[in-house]
Amino acid sequence: MPNPFKLNLVHRPRRLRRTAGLRALVEETVLRPEDLVAPLFVIDGKGRPEAIPSMPGVSRLAIPDLVKECRALGKLGILAVALFPRIDARLKDEEGTAALREDALILRAVRAVKRAVPGLTVMTDIALDPYTSHGHDGVLTADGRDVDNDRTVGILSGMAVLHAAAGVDLVAPSDMMDGRVGAIRRALDAAGHEGTAIMAYTAKYASAYYGPFRDAVGSAKAAGTRGLDKRSYQLNPANRREAFTELKLDEAEGADIVMVKPAGLYLDIIRGLRYATRKPIAAYQVSGEYSQIHAAARLGWLDLALCRRESLIAIKRAGADMILTYFAREMAAELRKAP
Ligand code: PBG
Repeated sequence: MPNPFKLNLVHRPRRLRRTAGLRALVEETVLRPEDLVAPLFVIDGKGRPEAIPSMPGVSRLAIPDLVKECRALGKLGILAVALFPRIDARLKDEEGTAALREDALILRAVRAVKRAVPGLTVMTDIALDPYTSHGHDGVLTADGRDVDNDRTVGILSGMAVLHAAAGVDLVAPSDMMDGRVGAIRRALDAAGHEGTAIMAYTAKYASAYYGPFRDAVGSAKAAGTRGLDKRSYQLNPANRREAFTELKLDEAEGADIVMVKPAGLYLDIIRGLRYATRKPIAAYQVSGEYSQIHAAARLGWLDLALCRRESLIAIKRAGADMILTYFAREMAAELRKAP
């Protein structure tokens, strides 16, 4: 009996989806461990790793464990790590003075990692939020009602020079102050660090998805709220054109890599910047993006491994050259088993 619904089609896209072999042959986006940057949290002392309840599978590590983790990541093909310090609350103050200490935890961590795993690319955040008692990325104006742009930029420039001297390959200003990329570039060059690159958080949105990260570095606690209001410096999630304004400025000021953050909810921004710049683009799959996949998986509502892969593929497909993600280690391990 001939099928009465038989279609007379020339084009049947399903032909190329028929077998695993054909699907692989026409696959457009391939994720590699080398695309992934692992953000890691570091604490002082020699204590055991501290679990972060809102980020399952992520812990704050003391320097000896941090070094071990970096070695393990290197073996999995991860080429770069981004280090974030969580300092003792007693070291925090309004001015974030601990950021400029020569014995700062982050500097000791960088030196230790560079000594133990010299081939690993190390980047650090340039912003004051791990150091300020109020949790803002900069110092406040005299009336305490806003972050003081130019005074903050001065401090961040000093911080970048310290990090460069400790051996970081890339400094990553994540503060969103105006003019900071140019100021940091000039300060680095003046100090003889013309080889240290700048990964600018170019389009960093005022996102609610940073909540778990603020638990991790203790900036929410310092501020007394996970919903710390950073809207006077981070971009409005409603805005797209503004990302291009920031891109132009960061490029002109000397950024080597430009970043979009968060990633998954801002694929249109990644895509837009991809067409607008020849610079490499980084995307940051932030803590909340990570935690929501874990939370849904715990409830049995989503498949962790499949959502992990799909979320990262989507970010790469949109145009990111590299992805900062808390899934880096597990994703790399999975890719090495079955690319
Ligand atoms: C701080 C900084 C933040 C993140 C990276 N650097 C948080 C913030 O701006 O409050 C967020 C990363 C994440 O959520 O994973 N300058």
